[in-house]
Amino acid sequence: MAVYLDHAASSPIRPEVLLRYTADLALVGNPSSVHGFGQRARQTIEDAREQLAAAVGCHRSEVIFTSGGTEADNLAIKGLYWSRFNADNRRRVIISTAAEHHAVLDALEWLESHGPEHQRAELHLLELDANGHFSLEELEKFLSERADEVALISLMWANNETGVISPIARVCQIARDHGVPVHSDAVAAFGHVPVHFAGSGLALLTITAHKIGGPVGVGALIVSRDIDLVPVSHGGGQERKLRSGTLNAAGAGAFALAATTARATLNERAERDGALKAKLIASIKEIAPAVQVTAENAETLPSTVHIRFTDCPGDSLLVLLDLKGVAVSTGSACQAGVINASHVMLAMGRDEAAASECIRVSFGYDTSEEDIDQLLAVLPAAYLGSRKAGAVR
Ligand SMILES: Cc1ncc(COP(=O)(O)O)c(C=O)c1O
Repeated sequence: MAVYLDHAASSPIRPEVLLRYTADLALVGNPSSVHGFGQRARQTIEDAREQLAAAVGCHRSEVIFTSGGTEADNLAIKGLYWSRFNADNRRRVIISTAAEHHAVLDALEWLESHGPEHQRAELHLLELDANGHFSLEELEKFLSERADEVALISLMWANNETGVISPIARVCQIARDHGVPVHSDAVAAFGHVPVHFAGSGLALLTITAHKIGGPVGVGALIVSRDIDLVPVSHGGGQERKLRSGTLNAAGAGAFALAATTARATLNERAERDGALKAKLIASIKEIAPAVQVTAENAETLPSTVHIRFTDCPGDSLLVLLDLKGVAVSTGSACQAGVINASHVMLAMGRDEAAASECIRVSFGYDTSEEDIDQLLAVLPAAYLGSRKAGAVR
């Protein structure tokens, strides 16, 4: 039986979520319509909003449904940049890192390179150490010198490739002292480690359904009530005028159910994942003693294992494992069928060769010890095969 260990890319929809989702797809009516059909669809949305708010620790009015994490990140970054710049045109600096997801990085780079010169953003990317950590001292120092010019900070809660967790609460404390709002992309973290919006001090938080057993195509931006955003798209004025477009009642309901279930089972899954992760790492070290576990001594997601197999191309290891029925990832972007060296690894100071020798194994709600055993059973041959492939390149 095929084994799926790429939940960080997209997790299969939970059976109970699928049931609810498919039933709700039959809902009739636009949630903005006044008649009974519309009102029933609206009720599905509002119930979902309430449940999602409880799962993420925010007020229901702070949930802005989107089509996923990418849209939420774009709304957060562009919307907050424009709003802060419009209020004070000295605020053009955005603080982030080079290891963010492309939904953040490319939005940042777009703000840096488009529009009239005087409106363009200036990026300040915090350096990362070999464990993927930025320096809170560097952040503090930069803010004490230039806080008046900073529009926002955007730092992910956990990295989707390496699983490295950021000290978001500390970032928010420092930023608050300097009056700077913080956005965090919690797509990789939400549902795997505790994420509580109100307790975090964040202004904006991105989450998406398909990483936690919900459907693809629905996500949310959590927007603190005291934050002004300029909308990115314009239309019917739904979602506090921040995200126009007919509301996706079935998607919202399914997302809320997936989030509620993930929240309720968080502790038991963290314990199970921690044990699976420890077993996997220990066994891999026996198979291939030269491996390097990324950020081994740092705080990482229990559901993500990121490993460099020295002298072994990650892409051929991935393909050989796939041929044996085990799906993992290199963690890095695949464009037009070509796997590029991971920008996250490069940002952590690895060279191109090291950055292309990595494999990410990620667990989800239905991952079992048998899955790990099947991976371990096929790994030795795949490892030898891809080392040979690497030697002839
Ligand atoms: C950290 C992170 N942010 C954002 C996204 C984009 O989310 P979506 O696929 O819902 O647009 C992803 C998806 O891979 C992600 O891992």
